[in-house]
Amino acid sequence: MGTPLRMEGASAPLVRAAIVGTGNIARFHIEALTSMPDQVEVVAAADVDEENLTRFGSRHGLDALYRDVEEMLSATSPDLVHVCTPPGLHRSQVLACLEAGASALVEKPPALSLAELEAMAAAEGARGPWFATLFQHRFGSGAQRARALIESGDLGRPLVAVCHTTWYREQSYFDVPWRGRWETEGGGPTMGHGIHQMDLLAALLGDWAEVSASAHQQARTIQTEDVSLARVTFANGAVASVVNSLVSPREESYIRIDLERATIELTHLYGYGDEDWRITPAPGFEEQVTAAWKAGEAGVASGHTAQLGHVIAAVQGGTAPPVTSAESLRTMRLVAGVYASAFQRRPITPADLGADSPFHGRMDGDGPRW
Ligand SMILES: NC(=O)c1ccc[n+]([C@@H]2O[C@H](COP(=O)([O-])OP(=O)(O)OC[C@H]3O[C@@H](n4cnc5c(N)ncnc54)[C@H](O)[C@@H]3O)[C@@H](O)[C@H]2O)c1
Repeated sequence: MGTPLRMEGASAPLVRAAIVGTGNIARFHIEALTSMPDQVEVVAAADVDEENLTRFGSRHGLDALYRDVEEMLSATSPDLVHVCTPPGLHRSQVLACLEAGASALVEKPPALSLAELEAMAAAEGARGPWFATLFQHRFGSGAQRARALIESGDLGRPLVAVCHTTWYREQSYFDVPWRGRWETEGGGPTMGHGIHQMDLLAALLGDWAEVSASAHQQARTIQTEDVSLARVTFANGAVASVVNSLVSPREESYIRIDLERATIELTHLYGYGDEDWRITPAPGFEEQVTAAWKAGEAGVASGHTAQLGHVIAAVQGGTAPPVTSAESLRTMRLVAGVYASAFQRRPITPADLGADSPFHGRMDGDGPRW
């Protein structure tokens, strides 16, 4: 890492964090950062939009404001940069951070394509700096508990899963110029919205082996899909139905995993607490399953603050922060697999998404077929 962490007081290294892009989502980042004053100091923010930048600076008491990211990096030498700009800027800004010796926490989707993401991963150092993707749904205690239980094998094999992100966005949502376009958002609800739950599904079930999908333009006038449907087979044998939609008036985010000894369910919208999880034991396993579920981690809601705790601990400890480049790539390959299967009209495996695939360089490959 280019910049060693500054030691404050007796022991704890204080992480010097900066924010790039001071629009809607940046608020969640700075609130998470300022909730950890013993571990983090926010040193700067950058944005090309003067109005957004000054409003953000005055709202959060930040004086070191820059119109240029490179200038901010060289003037303030942060340890960690939160990249909160539109997706089309993530690759170049993450590369600038890594080049300057700063690790980067980049908002989802981490890049527009697998090629971009692989270039970002290649620029990491073996001992840092790293980049991590903001996939906050992994970090609530419910997800941590479910993951630990599934990995322990105590619930038996995962057999079948459901992963639905059925949301609603009016046509006017796409008035923001970067939304709904392959060149700037990289895709529709598969890439921009359902990716959160697809990432959580992959965190719970591990590597995926094959995907068969379709993509549709049902109701919105946009370049990308507004609905996708997929059947995903995981390496552990589990099969999952994945639905991503932006045309569903009763909005819901739902994950269900049926294992041999229990069903685990999560029902929420944009984030969850422990109360949004439900476990149903199979007949004969009531006591064992209930005890195992109760023994797990509790009390942490999903969200930026939950993930940031893990990110800061990793940066302080000199290890790759989550969600790591390798795990980000697995999730992004699943997204690319959905598009490749939908537009090539055939099942896709991760091996089909190498550098020779048109879906490696662009999520719409050699052109969508509706
Ligand atoms: N994790 C989540 O739940 C979640 C939710 C919403 C958005 N996001 C993601 O966050 C990212 C930003 O979304 P948003 O809704 O905050 O967008 P936004 O348009 O509200 O904010 C983006 C900001 O980036 C600034 N910007 C543009 N070009 C820049 C440049 N070259 N250098 C510095 N700043 C620049 C803009 O001026 C703007 O202030 C996207 O990737 C989006 O998908 C994540």
